[in-house]
Amino acid sequence: MNIKKQQKSYDLDIYRYRILILDFGSQYVRLIAKIIRELGVYCEIWNYNVSELQIRQFHPNGIVLSGSPESIINVSSPRVTDYVFCSGIPVLGICYGMQIMVVQLGGEVHTNDLQREFGYTQVNVLVDNFLVRDIYDFVSKKGVPILNVWMSHNDTVISVPQDFIIVADTNNCPVAIIANEQRNLYGLQFHPEVTHTKQGRRILERFVIDICHCRSLLDSNIIIEKIIFNIRKLVKNDRVILGLSGGVDSSVAALLLHRAIGKNLICLFIDNGLLRFNEDYKNVKAFCEDYNMNIIYLAKEERFFGSLIGIYDPEEKRKIIGKIFMEIFEEQMQSLANITWLAQGTICSDVVESAALDHSYVRIIKSHHNVAGLPGNRKFRLIEPIRNFFKDEVRKMGFSMGLPVNILYRHPFPGPGLAIRVIGEVKKEYCILLRKADLIFIEELRKSNLYLKISQAFVVFLSVRSVGIVGDNRKYGWVVALRAVNSVDFMTAKYTVLSNVFLTKVANRIINEISDISRVVYDISSKPPATIEWE
Ligand code: XMP
Repeated sequence: MNIKKQQKSYDLDIYRYRILILDFGSQYVRLIAKIIRELGVYCEIWNYNVSELQIRQFHPNGIVLSGSPESIINVSSPRVTDYVFCSGIPVLGICYGMQIMVVQLGGEVHTNDLQREFGYTQVNVLVDNFLVRDIYDFVSKKGVPILNVWMSHNDTVISVPQDFIIVADTNNCPVAIIANEQRNLYGLQFHPEVTHTKQGRRILERFVIDICHCRSLLDSNIIIEKIIFNIRKLVKNDRVILGLSGGVDSSVAALLLHRAIGKNLICLFIDNGLLRFNEDYKNVKAFCEDYNMNIIYLAKEERFFGSLIGIYDPEEKRKIIGKIFMEIFEEQMQSLANITWLAQGTICSDVVESAALDHSYVRIIKSHHNVAGLPGNRKFRLIEPIRNFFKDEVRKMGFSMGLPVNILYRHPFPGPGLAIRVIGEVKKEYCILLRKADLIFIEELRKSNLYLKISQAFVVFLSVRSVGIVGDNRKYGWVVALRAVNSVDFMTAKYTVLSNVFLTKVANRIINEISDISRVVYDISSKPPATIEWE
């Protein structure tokens, strides 16, 4: 398809209906965007600090105000232009976004330790309101519609602005949903964007489609074509290198780039010695051959292990690994000559957790290697075609482009690899043991048809030893933890409930087959408050 013709199909005006999301630094802001995109409506995330003019020029059909790690009680916490509330544009405030609406319109918020809520909470819908009409998880014995939601707030609304009504409360907190239907202003204390809030998507849909009157015009193929179009426009006839690990993210990025620029894409496979069994060069090479893509293999194990000697801190490890990856990319760009572009399969959760959004209100959770390793004074240009998308969206794109099933549904594997699954100092001998234990766990999951039902599973090497007995002898061996989680977008996750029979089988195999391991534990923490990886 030629570029002019493609441009036409975007002018189909997929941007005609648009939602503006104002970000106050929430970890979850991209999830709001993801749901709105999935509803087929175009949206953009902007820093909260926008002017009236910028909003007018964007011409949104609706505005969503995100949550924030800040407290509204703090006088220096972010505020938004009053135009947001008096423009006549429908507004939905989420968590901090609701509190800011309350405070800027004359209501009151305070901090009360007894009213803090984190995690699952039940919301009682007290009066009929269009935002949540006919949306509930169940009806209580007293006939009250109840929503099961995910809360995360320290501060609580105690009085609402004039002409607002309290639509819902919780047993702990007097205000969980507010509305001013005349002015189309709504607020939710809970997070509709996280998957734990089961009806969250329906509430956002009610707002975007029924209240803002947006029509659904976006779909996955249009998004793919738009990304390809943008890559061509940006890169033109230049050559690009891409670090291809064989995971779903870098493979989807490779396919998009290959479709956009063909032979001008050169993939690099860097063997850092921190890979799992069966996730090696062999498979990546086969994938590249199938699609006729250039691939170069680089053996760099010693360089990575050498740089990790004596390093215990997770953030330091991540940064060192990110830096070495970048050094290797830069070296290759020089030696291959004439290459100024580096492509990466960075996805949205990498960016959010590394606090690398365009502004810095988000708190750093972890420095993802492909984000944190980037040198400030880099000489190359960066292209990240899937930076705005979450794992499930990336998988959908991969599916549409015919990505093989073994790559498409492969569990995610972090860029720093086994280095962040060995707690503390990374040693080659620890990685060897970890790799063996991990292989057993994954093999057993596959045998029991559980692999595809779980979003991510792996073993962690705890770097502590414990006493056991084998026969009549004392055994002083290493401890490993099994981790399995289910998640849609990897921003939140629940630990997977595995049967005792299954866990026992895996633990027995690991202890019997790997003589240096004496104990196996199972991690039953969900995210939040834990993260998926241990480091
Ligand atoms: P956490 O541990 O932050 O992980 O809950 C969320 C998802 O991201 C993966 N992960 C990474 N992926 N580079 C990556 O490419 C990284 O540095 C990185 N750290 C975590 C993790 O495996 C999970 O799927």
